[in-house]
Amino acid sequence: MLVGFLRTVLLLLLGFVISHLITAWGIAIFSHKAFSLNYPFSLVNFYLRNLLNLKSLSGFFHVFFWFYLVSTIIPLEIYRIFFEEDFKNSKNKYGFAKFASARTIKKMGLTSKDGIVFGLIRRNFLQKIFSRKKFIKSNQPLSSLFIAPTGTGKTAGFIIPTLKSINNSVVIFDIKGELHNKTSAARAKLGQKIFVLDVEEGNIKFNPFARNQLPQNHKKLKSYVKNISNFIFDNQGSSEGGPRKENNYFISSAKELFNTLILYLILEDGYTTITQVKELLLGSNNPKQIFLTIQEKITDKEEAETDPNTKQLLGQVREGANQIVQICDAKDQFLGVVGSLTTILAAFDDLEIKDIIDCENSSVVAKDLRKEKITVYIRVKDVDLERLRPVISLFFETLIGDIISNDPAPEDNQITFVLDEFGNLGRISKLIKATTISRSYKLNQIFILQDLAQISSIYSREERSILESNTAYKIILQQNNFDTAKGISELIGTRTDAKISKSSKESKKMNDRDSFSVSQEGIPLISPQDILNLNKNRCLIVVQGYAANVILADIAWYFKYNL
Ligand SMILES: Nc1ncnc2c1ncn2[C@@H]1O[C@H](COP(=O)(O)OP(=O)(O)OP(=O)(O)O)[C@@H](O)[C@H]1O
Ligand SMILES: [Mg+2]
Repeated sequence: MLVGFLRTVLLLLLGFVISHLITAWGIAIFSHKAFSLNYPFSLVNFYLRNLLNLKSLSGFFHVFFWFYLVSTIIPLEIYRIFFEEDFKNSKNKYGFAKFASARTIKKMGLTSKDGIVFGLIRRNFLQKIFSRKKFIKSNQPLSSLFIAPTGTGKTAGFIIPTLKSINNSVVIFDIKGELHNKTSAARAKLGQKIFVLDVEEGNIKFNPFARNQLPQNHKKLKSYVKNISNFIFDNQGSSEGGPRKENNYFISSAKELFNTLILYLILEDGYTTITQVKELLLGSNNPKQIFLTIQEKITDKEEAETDPNTKQLLGQVREGANQIVQICDAKDQFLGVVGSLTTILAAFDDLEIKDIIDCENSSVVAKDLRKEKITVYIRVKDVDLERLRPVISLFFETLIGDIISNDPAPEDNQITFVLDEFGNLGRISKLIKATTISRSYKLNQIFILQDLAQISSIYSREERSILESNTAYKIILQQNNFDTAKGISELIGTRTDAKISKSSKESKKMNDRDSFSVSQEGIPLISPQDILNLNKNRCLIVVQGYAANVILADIAWYFKYNL
């Protein structure tokens, strides 16, 4: 700023001197009149008389020069001082080759009408007056990753503007209820059906074993139930939602018991619930009798069944029941297995969870999100999160599992997952793994984190690296912690640059001539310093495949731009 100001002053002074030399003194000196007069006083006289006299040549040039100065150079300088300063600085400040131009942003496919809002294309002074603001938006089935500390604008600058405009189906993890409050009316106006999973005024029922949730094909049914039970057994019980460590005999037998009962009840009624499993298991004084009855019923069905897939499944359930009958004979063993199962299912005993989960049909399934325009808010208060996590994480697990196991039709909706405060959701590995195949399933996910450390205790190193390398858009906001900035800088990667170095004195002696060597040097695309110094109204967008063209954008604050 100061340099720019001093330069303007210098330029004006220079202009003043030059204009006088050329337009007044110069002409006066070389004019016959001036030479014929009493030099040099006559010259002053001549200059002053001709200065503003447009009819005289020197006067005309003088006025013209000042007009040029006032109308062109001064505005240009003011513009450079006030509007271009940070562009100039950033050129030196940032390590990467150059900022993406508006044309490159278009080439990247980021100027779609609808989609996830990443910011506004920066406009210069004249563009601000004459052209409309243009959004940087993506409707590609690709995932994005936001990492920024609290209060930097992840919600107000990106998620709210996105939710107010994007018109495909969206599933939102809304831990503060803020997104529902600020965007549900706008989404309803877009013609979206609104669903809310919430303990107070929610309108969603969800049961992973509901009639409309289960695969119709009995060949797929067994693996579906197995996947769900693996998820329940591996994730519940540890408070961080991390993987369960112990895997002893009782737990693996409890899992088999659970699978057998679930499949039996589904084959009986076409659906079941976790509550029904518990009631069946604990509702009798003679558990052995229950499993003998199951065996009998299943055997009868098996004999009458003609469909080979169903027949095979019935055979597996009968076999499962047979094993449990044997465990029943060793009483202590059986009590241990049932104890393990009830401990794990205790997470679903909560009355509010039961209220959501005990139903014949789920309110929304993947198919609905594909065919209709639906917005689902998973709204949960911080204080309720721990208690409700079993049902919330199961909802996401089931939904994402369903989405990535059925190919979408060409006319199907894209589905966007908005995972604000992703670290608080608990471990749902499929959400991360889906980033590798999101394109085939018309899926895009927005992962929002305050810090990469937020997920390091929940996810494995491999899962974290999938998240880091498979998110196509990385949005960086100002950071306040050097280590985090360093982590982000490393995550974005480096570019190789040729480094030319002169040979040392010793080698010079030997060759008696200057010699140069060229080596490749890895320079961070964005240095930690760049990230720490970022203006709080700007963001950097790194697009996969365009690493050398980082986008510097204005944050599209919903409250500033009336979005
Ligand atoms: N309506 C508004 N008017 C003015 N400023 C606002 C408004 N809403 C939010 N802000 C400001 O915008 C900034 C960003 O807030 P935002 O909620 O987006 O942060 P965040 O990055 O989502 O934080 P967190 O990780 O805590 O959710 C805050 O400084 C906040 O004060
Ligand atoms: Mg937020």
